[in-house]
Amino acid sequence: MLGCPWRDKPDARGHSIRPHSKAVGGYVAVIQAGLSENRADHSTGVVENPGCVFFNEERILDNRVYTRIVGTGSCVPPKVLTNHDLEKIVDTSDQWIVERTGISERRVTDESTAASDLAIEASKKALEMAGIAAEEVDLILVATVTPDMFFPSTGCIVHKALTSKPIPAFDLSAACSGYIYGLSVADAYIRSGMAKTILLIGADTLCKMLDWTDRNSCVLFGDGAGATVLRADSTPGVLKVNISADGTYGDLLQILGGGSRNPCSQKVIDEGLQYVRIKGREVYKTAVRVMSQSVEEILKQLNMTGDDLALFIPHQANLRIIEAVAAKLNYPMEKTLVNIDRYGNTTAATIPLAIDEVVRNGRLKSGDTMGMVAFGGGFTWGAAVIKY
Ligand code: ACO
Repeated sequence: MLGCPWRDKPDARGHSIRPHSKAVGGYVAVIQAGLSENRADHSTGVVENPGCVFFNEERILDNRVYTRIVGTGSCVPPKVLTNHDLEKIVDTSDQWIVERTGISERRVTDESTAASDLAIEASKKALEMAGIAAEEVDLILVATVTPDMFFPSTGCIVHKALTSKPIPAFDLSAACSGYIYGLSVADAYIRSGMAKTILLIGADTLCKMLDWTDRNSCVLFGDGAGATVLRADSTPGVLKVNISADGTYGDLLQILGGGSRNPCSQKVIDEGLQYVRIKGREVYKTAVRVMSQSVEEILKQLNMTGDDLALFIPHQANLRIIEAVAAKLNYPMEKTLVNIDRYGNTTAATIPLAIDEVVRNGRLKSGDTMGMVAFGGGFTWGAAVIKY
């Protein structure tokens, strides 16, 4: 991973390879004679080809590399917390929660379980489905905003549990958009040849960060993890991933305490700064607008319409948000994944948890094209279209 064995050597087709001066963070070797094959993607600024290689022989031999999902897994804690259970804790009702959010129950971790525990279980299942040994993984990437601790990262904790082979492992923080952000990073690693097999996980235990006296937030979330094994392949998998952020909305959804701004202290605890704070109504409106725009944009970039999607997985934050996005896109709810009734909003786990569900129940079939969109704290958002 860290060297470039091909740098000064001719490639398999006899083309010489030279460092690219505009590469960020390392060498991009360019097959000089292959430059005419390159296709620039002006929306992202990324050269989407083919002729570019990063230390990877297969990439030189094949003309093009795609990222494919070859294994999925998920893990939710066994404890079910129903709306009726919540009625006993805060001033709420099953009827209000179902009508306003679509949530009936969620899974909640016990005191001894952290995000990495869920991530490790989900990963083992994903690797098993892929038929791939953990030693074959080149990179572990965990999307989470509820890491076990500041460091070691959840990625390193997952690494320790799965393999003794030294590989890069790190966390990525993008709240509910974490998995789509991770997919963007993983796809870039694979397409550039920097990795061949990636374990991409979304894992969150936001229930540990909730103020169980605040009915505005505590009814919305659940805990869980979803994992995907991504592999370099010569047939199309990830067709496109777009991610974006607008930090000006940061104060609508945040945990203020525990970081370097407000380190853990008695004052932080007394003021309840360790808890999730949301301004739900404002988040709701922006989520509907941005999620539908993101899907419209990515479909347009791919020259596709909703009719091309066999399935659509939107972030599961509120059933009314999901329905409003589907309505704006004129996309049928029958082809839109909904599991918020059983899990609530599982933050970065939401999308991979749903992917695992549709893969295992056969709703997503080989060759199907699927859209995904997420939106969350930051604000962050992202959309992806994949061929499964
Ligand atoms: N039980 C009963 N009443 C409640 C509850 C509850 N759990 N929570 C709020 N209420 C009350 C409010 O106090 C308010 O009462 P008031 O009119 O007397 O002040 C009333 O219900 C209506 O409140 P609204 O905020 O207008 O309710 P709304 O229909 O907007 O639904 C909700 C609130 C569910 C939070 C919705 O706005 C939402 O889902 N927002 C997004 C949630 C979010 O931020 N998720 C995380 C980010 S990910 C993402 O959003 C994509």
